Amino acid sequence: MSNYIRLRGGKPLVGEIVLRGGKNVVPKLMVAALLTDEPVIIRDVPKIEDVEIMTRLFKRSDVIVDEIRPGTLQIIAKGMKLLSRPDLEDVTGRSRIPILMCGPMLHRFNRALVPKLGGCNIGPRPVDFHVKALRELGANYDESESGGVFKTKGLRGAIITLEYPSVGATEQVILSTVLADGVTELHNAAVEPEIMDLIMLLQQMGAIISVDMDRNIIIEGVEKLGGAVHTGMPDRNETASWACAALGTNGRIFVRGARQLDMMTFLNKFRQVGGGFDVNRDGITFYREQEILEPITVETDVHPGFMTDWQQPLVVALTQAHGKSVIHETVYESRFGYIDALNQMGAKIKVFEESVKNIRSKFGKRNYRQSVMIQGPTELHGADITVPDLRAGFSYIVAALIAKGDSTIHDFSILQRGYEHLVAKLQSLEAEILEVKT
Ligand code: EPU
Repeated sequence: MSNYIRLRGGKPLVGEIVLRGGKNVVPKLMVAALLTDEPVIIRDVPKIEDVEIMTRLFKRSDVIVDEIRPGTLQIIAKGMKLLSRPDLEDVTGRSRIPILMCGPMLHRFNRALVPKLGGCNIGPRPVDFHVKALRELGANYDESESGGVFKTKGLRGAIITLEYPSVGATEQVILSTVLADGVTELHNAAVEPEIMDLIMLLQQMGAIISVDMDRNIIIEGVEKLGGAVHTGMPDRNETASWACAALGTNGRIFVRGARQLDMMTFLNKFRQVGGGFDVNRDGITFYREQEILEPITVETDVHPGFMTDWQQPLVVALTQAHGKSVIHETVYESRFGYIDALNQMGAKIKVFEESVKNIRSKFGKRNYRQSVMIQGPTELHGADITVPDLRAGFSYIVAALIAKGDSTIHDFSILQRGYEHLVAKLQSLEAEILEVKT
């Protein structure tokens, strides 16, 4: 039976929400804790599905995970045992994070099973960069077992150049080489703030990692890592989501914990559309500065570009701008699957297959549905729609709150993968929630 939320649109969102550690960083900090026998304490851990999945997997491998205070996890991996295929089975297809456990498992057991991965359905999302990098570090990969298995006689440093600055592959290399024999040079690395946060925890644990110019990360393997206490960086995707909700509904939202440095690229675009923001020590307030919103052109990219995870709620806000906006998606092959539902609600958005010239794109010039043109302003009306993936799901919430009338958003639970306490947050922002069925 489907779970859903029913919302009545037309009211601006007004109030404050509090961020906790990011979905795309906290589960990886948890993986870092597997590299030592000493306790690692992580603060600001959100209650989201990816954290629950990792907690469950850790407990299966006899790693101690305790919530010592609300939102603070203590992880002790001293007694860790190798995960078996049945251990991995019930998380199969639900998260992409478990593949990052390969490095710690190879260090501890010279062997690691590769889980069948999940995550949002936004393109093929292969793991070939991970496999290639681990091979270069001295692991053999056997695909014959379902899901695959890595074996090694000991990982050793290497010079690795990623084909594309993949976030996950960069994290894989870092987590696999901090304890490897020798020095690793990683070229064409991703340099997202979440990766810097992971490096900061590892540095506290005793790792030696330097981030040089031009996407080069140098990791000098050390013999042993120790315990540390670290606060996960605030979720910058959630920040952008609420900022677009304020813009779209003509509201005013203070995002406590949001940091300007993480959001600079987003803030430039937000201002160009006609959004306003006030930065203070505790967070950022987002609102509509101009009465008439302006159309813009945006290309998603790896950091420091405009994140692919920011485009979906922005597209919804742009349905209220006066004129034609264009968004080019260059990171994922299939991240415009949510557009049809927005058109059903009255938006005028066209999806194009034409390649975007002169910009880096993960999938080159192949004909994917990689660009959209949004003709605004359009009046949105309520609809019955189904969430296809996490960020698209949030964009449907924004659309429903802008729309005239009532909307039912099915498969609403997908949003729990990345938005902590979403219903409570919507209530505190005075959204009109008619019904929630979990
Ligand atoms: N890719 C490959 N081969 C690989 C790995 C990646 O072809 O081995 C491709 C992907 O298919 C994609 C591109 O490279 O087209 C970028 O993927 P990347 O590895 O950078 O992404 P990820 O690590 O799988 C993380 C976030 C995503 C976010 C991307 C980009 C986590 C758990 N997920 O994914 O977050 O979109 O980086 O910033 O950290 C979300 O939060 O909604 C989300 C999807």
